[in-house]
Amino acid sequence: IFSQVTQAPADPILGLTEAFEADARSGKVNLGVGIYKDEAGETPVLRSVKQAEARLLEQEKTKNYLGIDGVQAYNQAVLELLFGKGSELIAQNRAQASQAPGGTGALRIASEFVMSNTQSRTIWVSNPTWANHQNVFETAGLQVKEYTYYRAEDHGMDFDAMMADLATAEQGDLVLLHGCCHNPTGIDPTTEQWQQIGELCRDKGLVPLFDFAYQGFGAGIEEDAQGLRIVAAMVPEMLVASSFSKNFGLYNERIGAVTVVAADTETKDKAFSQVKRTIRASYSNPPAHGALIVSTILGDETLRAEWEAELTEMRERIAEMRTLFVDSLAAAGVTQDFSFISTQNGMFSFSGLNKDQVARLKDEFGVYIVGSGRISVAGMTKSNMPVICKAIAAVL
Ligand code: LMR
Repeated sequence: IFSQVTQAPADPILGLTEAFEADARSGKVNLGVGIYKDEAGETPVLRSVKQAEARLLEQEKTKNYLGIDGVQAYNQAVLELLFGKGSELIAQNRAQASQAPGGTGALRIASEFVMSNTQSRTIWVSNPTWANHQNVFETAGLQVKEYTYYRAEDHGMDFDAMMADLATAEQGDLVLLHGCCHNPTGIDPTTEQWQQIGELCRDKGLVPLFDFAYQGFGAGIEEDAQGLRIVAAMVPEMLVASSFSKNFGLYNERIGAVTVVAADTETKDKAFSQVKRTIRASYSNPPAHGALIVSTILGDETLRAEWEAELTEMRERIAEMRTLFVDSLAAAGVTQDFSFISTQNGMFSFSGLNKDQVARLKDEFGVYIVGSGRISVAGMTKSNMPVICKAIAAVL
């Protein structure tokens, strides 16, 4: 049977890392995948994580299975990060989180849950969006439609076009929203725009599915949750796929969560029971380590303060790289205006470089960025910046 199987195309993001690793050139730079690098170009384990792990190693007594929805203290901590401590939604018992294997695992569980238990068959995603969204949703059986998001002429958000496109959505359609640090554009709605998005979803009966993978990489932990909280306060039903890959640097622990919000506790409980059933049919129950790290840190005042400081350090270094990037491009002789890069949020900058320029960056200069022109600013350092900017100046 396998002889009939055709070759799959390389993944647009992780396939780049494979190509990068196979590249023998010294001085190559990987700005494809969203991984934070420090000034030395390393992705070290956070200090708070190392301390939590030491504690866990010492105290762990069993490797017994977790429940289907994972570590309960972790799930509670997820709800508080999403909706805020003391939030009305939590007090009303309208929201429940389940540990999931990374943000991608959460997106897939959410999609499978919708497919198996509701009449909804369509999800709207921004154009552009994360290169894996369509893949995840279509594999689960959802039909993917696009809403306008980005305006190339001024590197800004085309909010009117977004609202006009979403006005054509049907009741019960899902709308994928990036909670903060939109991937790949780095452009987020304003508070007023979030309000309007919430109103549209409420009035048309659309169900938001938030992809929330960068909390703390935009303006701060609380600030970055504002959009999600505004919408959550307005709609009866919502799903969230969140991740701690980036903000705890727990990439390979695959630690995220899928959260269900429903109109009342009874509906939420029924929906959550089906989320658990979906999980049981997929991977039975989750691995423990990542969830225990996160719940240990969030449940301890000192470790939490240390984590927040480390998160601030990461956010500030990326902001510094944005400014340096814009200045270094000018210094490398680029006359085109790239100042928009310094106002984008999160790990990525949407450069506007076209496919040919992206290919030349890789082939001629060993600088790897995603085909859409997305550059991981989080992978830039003071030492690789001149190489990157010289290469971009050449392909421009
Ligand atoms: C990215 O967008 O680079 C990250 O979310 C990693 C991934 O899985 O693609």
